Amino acid sequence: MTADDPTKKVFIKTFGCQMNVYDSERMAEALAGDGYRETSDIEDADLVVLNTCHIREKAVEKVYSDLGRIRDLRDQRRRAGKDTLVAVTGCVAQAEGTEIARRAPAVDLIVGPQSYHRLPELLRKTQATGECIVETSFPEEEKFEHLSPQRQFRTATAFLTIQEGCDKFCTFCVVPYTRGMEYSRSIADIEKEARILVEKGVRELTLLGQNVNAYHGVGATGGEGSLAELVRKLASIDGLERIRYMTSHPRNMTDDLIAAHGEEKKLMPYLHLPVQSGSNRILAAMNRKHTAEDYIRVIEKVRAARPDIALSTDMIVGFPGETDADFDATLELVKAVGFAQSYSFKYSSRPGTPAANMEDQVSDALKSERLTRLQYLLTNQHERFNARTVGLTVPVLFERLGRNSRILVGRSPHLQLVQAEADAGLLGKILPVAIRSHGPGSLSGVVAA
Ligand code: SAH
Ligand code: SF4
Ligand code: F3S
Repeated sequence: MTADDPTKKVFIKTFGCQMNVYDSERMAEALAGDGYRETSDIEDADLVVLNTCHIREKAVEKVYSDLGRIRDLRDQRRRAGKDTLVAVTGCVAQAEGTEIARRAPAVDLIVGPQSYHRLPELLRKTQATGECIVETSFPEEEKFEHLSPQRQFRTATAFLTIQEGCDKFCTFCVVPYTRGMEYSRSIADIEKEARILVEKGVRELTLLGQNVNAYHGVGATGGEGSLAELVRKLASIDGLERIRYMTSHPRNMTDDLIAAHGEEKKLMPYLHLPVQSGSNRILAAMNRKHTAEDYIRVIEKVRAARPDIALSTDMIVGFPGETDADFDATLELVKAVGFAQSYSFKYSSRPGTPAANMEDQVSDALKSERLTRLQYLLTNQHERFNARTVGLTVPVLFERLGRNSRILVGRSPHLQLVQAEADAGLLGKILPVAIRSHGPGSLSGVVAA
């Protein structure tokens, strides 16, 4: 393989959150400009990129075990006269750059999330020198400005990162260290990218940020904009039918954003608003800067503005010092709110975060027991939410083929997965679907005439 070989292939594996999914797409676009085509066959790849997540210990272990397998694969390919370049990007690259270089010598390139626009250049450099390059600085210059304006899109739904980083410093979380301080793109810049995507057939945009509702990019008049202002601006784009955003912090659910949920038809009735715990003592130790009562007040306001809104949350069990009473408060909060969707985790100690050094770490056995109890309650809530949809007709945006080419899969406004028998020509269209039944994670129905 040479630097300008037109048949180079890249395999990208993405771990972690939606921001990584977005970043992987942008990396593929940057590499396409350098002659790389994407492949889903790792054995055929001249370049393997692992876009990694540092959020919990397990996520990091997966990266190192993958790197072991990739080294064997590279050795095999070398015996056949081909080479494989290996790049590690994302949050593990940012947090453990030099450690990766030491533990996994097969890696050629380690690049943090702020430097993806430099990938092609760094690849050429590592090929020329044969040395492993570690690039994990937080450069002043903006990566978004340097990424290719060419967006390649084949589906009707897309992620669009509008904000990166986090200044909240919850005591369990690595994000402020791996993604740096909060940064918001300008409304004009985001609108430009949104219009390119809509021209390519995108009908639904999910606006992304680690703290998306803290968004404060430059607005239309040159001053600070808000997420509500951005949503209203994007809603004026013809052809764009649906807008979502994630992930939000309860403290940044401002009145204008809540009002937008009531007024803006394109803003979907779904809100992912992580609460993490229902115990005020634990919330304080987590540095969440809100109480369980604050959270419930926000939910009440959101429901007043948009009564049919579906709510989703993230939960952590077994944070250091969590007692049975604290855990009971979490169960109580879940019962009081009622969630349509949720993601819950056992607390994972992350080196360098304040909670890692707290006393009274909870045993793994107790964390597992609490997680099982919490998930039992939450799963029941999700099922009940889905069951209430049976018998209704809901608009579904069809995104992809299902298990065979006669089944299409899409999403309802409440982000429920819906399967229906329909012609593949209806992909990318929004159609009314009469919901007939529900399974654990999805709904089935028939396209209404
Ligand atoms: N910015 C978002 C989410 C960040 S990470 C927010 O503020 O809510 C996604 C989720 O991972 C978090 O909401 C949290 O529930 C979970 N998480 C983060 N750090 C964790 C840790 N150390 N152990 C277990 N779960 C964690
Ligand atoms: Fe992490 Fe808290 Fe920031 Fe979310 S708000 S990214 S949990 S520090
Ligand atoms: Fe993971 Fe980084 Fe996202 S740590 S959750 S990939 S911001």
